[in-house]
Amino acid sequence: MRKKVVAGNWKMNTTLQEGVRLAEEVNNALKETEAKCDVVICVPFTHLASVNAVIDQSKLGLGAENCADHVKGAYTGEVSAPMVASTGARYVILGHSERRQYYGETSATLKEKVKLALAEGLTPIFCIGEVLEERENGTYNAVVKSQIEEALFDLTADDFKKIILAYEPVWAIGTGKTATDEQAQEMHAFIRSTIAAKYGADVAEEISILYGGSCKPTNAKGLFSQPDIDGGLIGGASLEAEPFMGIVKAF
Ligand code: 13P
Repeated sequence: MRKKVVAGNWKMNTTLQEGVRLAEEVNNALKETEAKCDVVICVPFTHLASVNAVIDQSKLGLGAENCADHVKGAYTGEVSAPMVASTGARYVILGHSERRQYYGETSATLKEKVKLALAEGLTPIFCIGEVLEERENGTYNAVVKSQIEEALFDLTADDFKKIILAYEPVWAIGTGKTATDEQAQEMHAFIRSTIAAKYGADVAEEISILYGGSCKPTNAKGLFSQPDIDGGLIGGASLEAEPFMGIVKAF
């Protein structure tokens, strides 16, 4: 059975104090819940060590939202994979569309980031997804396929299996516009078939593919009941414990 995962992506929200409080709330809520999935929160770099100190990572995994494409050195302002791992974090979001769009991240840099994250034992949550124009002109499958091929397909099967994928149609992020259950399922099945063609059906069956984009307690059940959707990457609804737990409980 593939791992089911609900992961929060806090993005650039919360001060350190607010973030620690939110992490404590989610951690406490999970003590009283039999979660049927892995639960993860990905938080700003500045919060990682403090959040790690107040959560039980056997119930609530901790991740960063990015890492550098170099191990160390003269890269002012960057945070490396070894630095992230040294805080106690176990996951790292890579290739989020906001990083691609606003910070010029390319498949070439992402390829390096994925390798460095894996070398530190971090689980990359690797994001892919098309923009509205690509959805409308029908090139979305080709776009997503090349995002996966360019950044990930030089990995060995053993390394590829360590990755969690997150399909996030850019037109659904923060817009209140969710992909329909059918649109999401169709893309997740396509992603799985792309992986199967490269690494074989067994590897493809093992990879968790999350959906992201305006996922809420009200639409999570429909999405998560699709055969190829293994959970969610949650933005806005992860910024308060109650809606985030509502999504966790959709499993
Ligand atoms: P929203 O849930 O706010 O649409 O954000 C999704 C996302 O980008 C998660 O990485």
